[in-house]
Amino acid sequence: MEQVERIGVSVDKNLLGAFDELITKQGYQNRSEAIRDLIRKQLSEQCLGNLKAKAVAAVHLVYDHHSTKLMEKLTALQHSHLLRTICTMHIHLDAHDCLEIIVLKGTVGEINKMAEKMLSQKGVKLGNVNFVCAPGP
Ligand code: NI
Repeated sequence: MEQVERIGVSVDKNLLGAFDELITKQGYQNRSEAIRDLIRKQLSEQCLGNLKAKAVAAVHLVYDHHSTKLMEKLTALQHSHLLRTICTMHIHLDAHDCLEIIVLKGTVGEINKMAEKMLSQKGVKLGNVNFVCAPGP
């Protein structure tokens, strides 16, 4: 079991009140878990600022499947890169549009390049990338 250290923090009363209001709305049961999450978020953001850091990312793409050759281009991009594509999920949204979620593993820099290529393909209507820092081997 991990060792736990208790810390004391001095905080302005108004700031603490606003923080308590926020974390209550977010569903936190206590300040400790909210503060731990803030620390993890800061550490993750610092990690993701390093282009060589290892990460996992979900690329979300919305496109019209009638777009000429777009699906083939997206598949070719995944096959031609050294990045590991962990999985893809395809959802038919309506008669025209599809949502594709592609989970990639690699460095932050590699994932950024790959995601930019995917997002800039003709026929992609919407897209974004969500990173999670993945320390370890
Ligand atoms: Ni579809």
